[in-house]
Amino acid sequence: MNRKTIFITGCSSGFGQMIAQHFQQHGWNVAATMRTPEKDTLLHTLPNVKLYRLDVTIPETVDAAVIQAITDFCKIDVLVNNAGYGALGIFEKAKEEDMRRQMETNVLGLMRVTKALLPHFRANRSGTIINIGSVAGELAFPYFALYNASKYAVNGFSKALYYELKMQGIAVKLVLPGMMKTDFFGRSMTVFEDNAVKGYEKFEETTRHNIMHMAERGEDPALVVRTVFKAATTDTFRLMYPVGWQARLLLILKYILPHPLLRRIMETAITRRKI
Ligand SMILES: NC(=O)c1ccc[n+]([C@@H]2O[C@H](COP(=O)([O-])OP(=O)(O)OC[C@H]3O[C@@H](n4cnc5c(N)ncnc54)[C@H](OP(=O)(O)O)[C@@H]3O)[C@@H](O)[C@H]2O)c1
Repeated sequence: MNRKTIFITGCSSGFGQMIAQHFQQHGWNVAATMRTPEKDTLLHTLPNVKLYRLDVTIPETVDAAVIQAITDFCKIDVLVNNAGYGALGIFEKAKEEDMRRQMETNVLGLMRVTKALLPHFRANRSGTIINIGSVAGELAFPYFALYNASKYAVNGFSKALYYELKMQGIAVKLVLPGMMKTDFFGRSMTVFEDNAVKGYEKFEETTRHNIMHMAERGEDPALVVRTVFKAATTDTFRLMYPVGWQARLLLILKYILPHPLLRRIMETAITRRKI
């Protein structure tokens, strides 16, 4: 049997690790990339999985991992751009470094890995690029200004890239999860701190409380894994893959409600009083 190969970023935890494990169990080769492979306790033990050091913000690690994975597996069939984190909080409290790091990781990092794999996909006249976007790339939420900006960029990038790669035989797919129960709102969330910025106390306390409350009720991340598997194994150019009831509901509301009304509902539900 000719095994297919998937290349995934951000495999140390959450969706990335689960996607790697799922594809391995379904007979795929997996190029599992992460910032610190020496900390891995699971994936390196699985057959047909190889680990590569890759930090999406360090171009040399991207190029080296892509070259090595192509050398090891000869052909990459699917790229999953998963690595990312959430820089949340009151925008006025964000530092220059917070802004740069969020965009550098979630947006430029994803573009960088895509660009590194494109010559290989084009030479094969095939390949699938699956970007883990977010419903936060289709709708804006209070407290999410920087993260929203990064995911709107990911979603917009994916939608535009779709056209130019389709004629090369390469499919771009955009997976749109709602809030999922990974450790995203723990290990992968940074909150801006700046005691000199006053005046947001009540808004911040309520909004943060409500966001964390909703995150605790996040959906099963296995839904994302199954959706990525479907996107990778369905031979079509379908672009959008919403995941879970939250994402579906929010996207329906976005299309049927007038935007001022939707904004008012969101504002009342999230910022006015604690859930
Ligand atoms: N969970 C949700 O509710 C949700 C919803 C929509 C979209 N998403 C998106 O899903 C993706 C995965 O998140 P998750 O929920 O699975 O959270 P997670 O478990 O915290 O995973 C995030 C992964 O990204 C990696 N990462 C962060 N910065 C990186 C960098 N510079 N280079 C390479 N890897 C880096 C982390 O690696 P380290 O261990 O090195 O930090 C980790 O493996 C993210 O893009 C996130 O925006 C999540």
